[in-house]
Amino acid sequence: MKKKSAGLSVVVIIICILSYFLVTASIPDRPVLIEQPIMFNHKRHQEKDVSCYDCHQFYKKYAVAGIPGTELCYDCHKSDKDLQEKEEKRKLHEFFTNKIEIEWNRINTPLPEDIVFSHKRHVVKDIECAECHGKLEELVDTKRLVQDFTMDGCVECHRQEQASIDCLICHK
Ligand code: HEC
Ligand code: HEC
Ligand code: HEC
Ligand code: HEC
Ligand code: HEC
Repeated sequence: MKKKSAGLSVVVIIICILSYFLVTASIPDRPVLIEQPIMFNHKRHQEKDVSCYDCHQFYKKYAVAGIPGTELCYDCHKSDKDLQEKEEKRKLHEFFTNKIEIEWNRINTPLPEDIVFSHKRHVVKDIECAECHGKLEELVDTKRLVQDFTMDGCVECHRQEQASIDCLICHK
């Protein structure tokens, strides 16, 4: 009897693992909500004229765009009157006073290690953030807007813009 149920649970576990892969292999096209330490609202900041560059401070000079740290957020919010009232602001206050760095989860799956990509190289050509990321400024929570970056997506625009499509500019 004992042996039989052990065998059964092995089968159940295998089915669970298989269905996990089936589900993750077919990520739906609609936006998916990503759990973040603080539910961040891009739209609210855009409405108050906080620019992308106020928070993503590296894209003009470097390959990465940069995700803001606790201190940068707190600098703007430390004297807010509703700092203790609004749930998400209270969390920010706690992260800061406990000296904990907010660990934001990535919205899009990062590119594979062997791909070369630079924000600076694109931004200097006046390509809008939204061309690649969708309209972040309309996002009121931490949804995943666009699907993962694909080679087709990169190459299609490179063709259009007459940028190089030599394999070795993107592949190390
Ligand atoms: C350059 C200044 C600035 C920076 C940097 C900044 N904020 Fe804000 N934030 C604002 C302004 C302005 C508002 C709108 C007024 C308000 O609600 O306080 C706002 C609103 C908010 C709100 C309320 C949102 C809502 O839906 O009502 C939260 C929560 C918040 N910010 C968190 C953050 C976090 C977390 C960071 C760091 C990733 C951050 N802010 C960085 C200026 C800033
Ligand atoms: C007040 C700070 C702030 C401003 C202003 C801001 N962002 Fe963000 N951004 C964040 C934070 C915090 C995250 C991580 C949390 C999240 O996913 O919402 C993020 C995430 C992102 C991501 C996802 C990165 C990834 O793959 O995980 C993109 C793309 C992005 N922002 C683009 C923009 C663009 C474009 C603008 C201007 C229209 C902008 N952001 C304005 C704070 C900001
Ligand atoms: C040509 C396409 C393209 C444009 C234009 C672009 N991005 Fe990105 N962005 C990407 C790709 C691809 C990644 C993933 C890079 C990786 O995982 O190595 C990324 C990642 C990010 C990230 C998370 C990782 C990081 O670099 O910090 C943020 C934040 C971000 N972008 C913000 C922006 C902002 C803000 C703008 C506009 C100023 C912008 N992006 C313009 C393609 C683009
Ligand atoms: C919306 C259009 C667009 C998209 C999408 C895009 N690129 Fe580009 N890319 C360009 C343009 C335009 C240039 C500039 C070419 C130049 O400097 O003459 C460029 C330049 C580059 C360069 C530097 C080329 C060189 O000559 O050194 C690399 C590397 C690159 N892109 C990789 C990528 C990767 C990887 C992706 C996808 C994740 C991507 N790009 C998506 C338009 C795009
Ligand atoms: C403009 C950038 C760019 C150029 C040019 C480019 N690739 Fe890619 N390639 C990527 C990115 C980004 C990925 C990872 C995302 C993905 O898997 O779609 C990738 C993934 C791949 C993969 C593995 C995943 C897959 O989809 O099969 C192969 C193989 C590959 N590229 C071959 C090539 C070859 C061969 C060339 C030249 C004819 C080339 N690439 C040119 C950006 C580029």
